[in-house]
Amino acid sequence: MWNKVFGGGTEDTFEVPKKDSPLFDRIDWNRLPRHVAIIMDGNGRWAKGQGLLRSAGHTAGVKTLKHILKTAVGLGLDALTVYAFSTENWKRPHAEVDFLMHLFSEYLTREMQEMHENNVQIHFLGRIDGLSEGLQHQVREAETLMRDNTGVKFNIAANYGGQDEILRMTQTLAKRAASGQLRPEDISEQMIEDTLDTHGNLPVDLVIRTSGDQRLSNFLLWQAAYAEFWFTDANWPEFTPERFVDAMVDFGKRDRRFGGLNEKKS
Ligand code: FPP
Repeated sequence: MWNKVFGGGTEDTFEVPKKDSPLFDRIDWNRLPRHVAIIMDGNGRWAKGQGLLRSAGHTAGVKTLKHILKTAVGLGLDALTVYAFSTENWKRPHAEVDFLMHLFSEYLTREMQEMHENNVQIHFLGRIDGLSEGLQHQVREAETLMRDNTGVKFNIAANYGGQDEILRMTQTLAKRAASGQLRPEDISEQMIEDTLDTHGNLPVDLVIRTSGDQRLSNFLLWQAAYAEFWFTDANWPEFTPERFVDAMVDFGKRDRRFGGLNEKKS
């Protein structure tokens, strides 16, 4: 049944764009974000607009994600983090949750090898132990396969919430303090970062959200402290590598001050 619903999926011909690809003509290579995070919103609205089921929107969303990951590889980004399933998404109808879980599983089965060939390091953020045993196994298998890769860090937030992540980090540090391994006054920002799910990643430079809403929705609350934001009305299935490049170009024009003053402008 699932094969029918997912519909082939191997016909995709979009390849990793080369540095001299016309797609990248407008890119200022010295002003690229290093870590981009995306809230992939609007699959359901897109499907409704096409007279399709919400599930078709999620399937179309997978294709968009494949293209955007390849574009991130071509750009040589340090990290791409995507919000695939929040701790709040369990409130959706059972059939939709079930569909999304099957979609993640299919995605890993189909895409893992090609990601590996593209030197991608995959990593999952969130309460992975809340996913099915089968999916947890696939997650571990994919992370292990790509553990030694040195290219784009591709983080998939699944059963993830920013507040929940901070709660888990706090519990970990509190346990260490309670057992005498850590003095509370020694807790530093670096230690917090090293204990979050995103340990080893740079701070988020740019958050992209599709589909018109302009909010963070409990995504990367700590990591996005100084991020720039870029919004588009396009639904996620309509989001293209060209639009992704638009976001990169726009980011290159931003004046980032990190709470200080820009010497040239002030
Ligand atoms: C938001 O659209 C999207 C999601 C909750 C799921 C995101 C999942 C994908 C893009 C599928 C691919 C992901 C992986 C990792 C294989 P929505 O359903 O909230 O849309 P709506 O706001 O229009 O209802």
